[in-house]
Amino acid sequence: MKKVLVTGGTGYIGSHTCVELLASRYEVVIVDNLSNSTRDVVERIERISTSRVTFYEGDVTVEAEVRQLFEAHDFVGVIHFAGYKAVGESVQQPVMYYQNNLVSTMLLAKYCTLFGVNKFVFSSSATVYGDNQVPFHEGLSLLPTTNPYGETKAMSERILTDVANVTPDLGVSILRYFNPVGAHESGEIGEAPNGIPNNLMPFVTQVARGKRDKLMVFGNDYDTVDGTGVRDYIHVVDLAKGHLAALENLTAGVHMYNLGTGKGTSVLELVHAFQEATGVTIPYEIVERRAGDIAECYADVTKAERELGWRAEKGIYEMCRDAWGFESRLGALVVE
Ligand code: WQD
Repeated sequence: MKKVLVTGGTGYIGSHTCVELLASRYEVVIVDNLSNSTRDVVERIERISTSRVTFYEGDVTVEAEVRQLFEAHDFVGVIHFAGYKAVGESVQQPVMYYQNNLVSTMLLAKYCTLFGVNKFVFSSSATVYGDNQVPFHEGLSLLPTTNPYGETKAMSERILTDVANVTPDLGVSILRYFNPVGAHESGEIGEAPNGIPNNLMPFVTQVARGKRDKLMVFGNDYDTVDGTGVRDYIHVVDLAKGHLAALENLTAGVHMYNLGTGKGTSVLELVHAFQEATGVTIPYEIVERRAGDIAECYADVTKAERELGWRAEKGIYEMCRDAWGFESRLGALVVE
């Protein structure tokens, strides 16, 4: 069977991608330092997939650990999710973000070239577009982001491009995510952030569960449909399938794809969709804008559809329903 290394494979997007890889009969090797996930996700992935996974608790910024992985396994490809991703934290801890997110990418690229692993799928982010004109398309020149996290994604893209340019057989697929939300329909895996959620959907689901009193809506004076921020929310299962399509269609050279729906949804539109999809009321209060936020962000998704034969299929109601399905199970499992 074809074997794939998935770094950060017990994380939110990584775990959903492992499920899709296993469903397509890949052999999956996960390495994760469990800094933002828990070990039981491995068993949850195996339960959903009725397949086994090889798991290493490890740190892909440590060269010896990366070398051991490549010496022990004959990978056909690497999907690199492992990285810190909290925008606000990156502003406070820039060196930690540059060191973790860049060294991991450099080491994995180095060992792919040393061991002739010719498929590298990289987890990037729409944040690299900065405050560009929407809809964002892959040919746009990147603007500086407002945070070190975004800069680590843009720099990683450049590192991988430079490596691919001198490695004839290497194919690199850079996937720029928009706003991943939702969870696997089983409710077994989903987004379980540590501490107070930075992102909108996990905050909404924690309000729905009664863990938070109300949602603070960060500004309603943007030039958008209802004044609140507009984003391109994409179901995490659609996003996971996008990774499989990228891996299977990967040829030599560097390829960039937006993984979004192409549709913008405002904060209040998402709140209303959540209430309709779940029957749960979400109290909210309009407060000041959050520093660094842009008004609108949504994707031009024609390239992924044309070249990968992939497009998102799930709508905002399914995203809300599945996000709530996971959170409400969490609530049942977790004694406060
Ligand atoms: C969405 C909208 C907020 C929380 C971030 C990162 C990006 C990527 C996805 C990693 C905005 C509003 C939010 C809240 C709110 N992460 N909001 N109240 O900022 O678009 O993107 O996560 O790759 O890199 O920047 O996502 O979910 O934080 O915010 O009103 O409690 O919801 O203002 O308009 P964002 P988000």
